[in-house]
Amino acid sequence: LIAFFQPKALAGKRVVVTAGPTFEALDPIRGITNHSSGKMGFAIARAAREAGADVTLVAGPVSLGTPRGVARVDVKSARQMLDATLAAVPAADIFVATAAVADWRPDTQADQKIKKDGSGRAPTVSFTENPDILLTVAQSERARQGALFCVGFAAESHDLVTHAKAKRERKGIPLLVGNIGPLTFGQDDNQMLLVDAQGVRELPRASKLTLARQLIHEIAQRLP
Ligand code: CTP
Ligand code: CA
Repeated sequence: LIAFFQPKALAGKRVVVTAGPTFEALDPIRGITNHSSGKMGFAIARAAREAGADVTLVAGPVSLGTPRGVARVDVKSARQMLDATLAAVPAADIFVATAAVADWRPDTQADQKIKKDGSGRAPTVSFTENPDILLTVAQSERARQGALFCVGFAAESHDLVTHAKAKRERKGIPLLVGNIGPLTFGQDDNQMLLVDAQGVRELPRASKLTLARQLIHEIAQRLP
């Protein structure tokens, strides 16, 4: 009841969230992807909406329902995710990159299914690096002037604190969230580390929705 009377933390703000994996086609049938479920990003979109924001959720291929009141844009590849994100961020106050973007895509996408040629030799696939969506947005004029608050996520298999600190600086963002292992793909709870210019703080293990609400609160406090 008390929450009902409190002003909403993100009233009047616009938030863009990327979520889920990307899918990088090899041919019309096959491609490269990863185990991201999208749950964390969808929870953040929901929490931002609950906090009164106008939310655009740019989603890779996931099987999750759209949170109530959230505008969803479905994409497949990293390049499509970049385009959809760049279309949405000019009007945004906050950008939260939770997507597990494929770092590489196959050099070429065959128009037709690649067939076995009977020789017993497997095809060789070479890769090209995908655009870094978060880095691209963080380097934009509005982000550098502080008008667009950018948040990144990092899933590391080892040395989380060291890697998370370095990643925050490399991306030039005010806040980076580290996922504390073991890998939580698809699970409903998570444990997170907040890394900002002040240092590192751990949030206790909780459901992704609880953590999403805490993160929205942390972001709201940091807005200019
Ligand atoms: N990210 C992105 N676009 C990419 C790669 C990553 O927007 N092409 C974003 C992710 O959504 C996440 C952050 O950057 O918020 C960190 O992603 P991560 O994969 O941990 O870092 P990378 O910079 O890709 O480095 P590496 O995978 O080598 O650790
Ligand atoms: Ca990566």
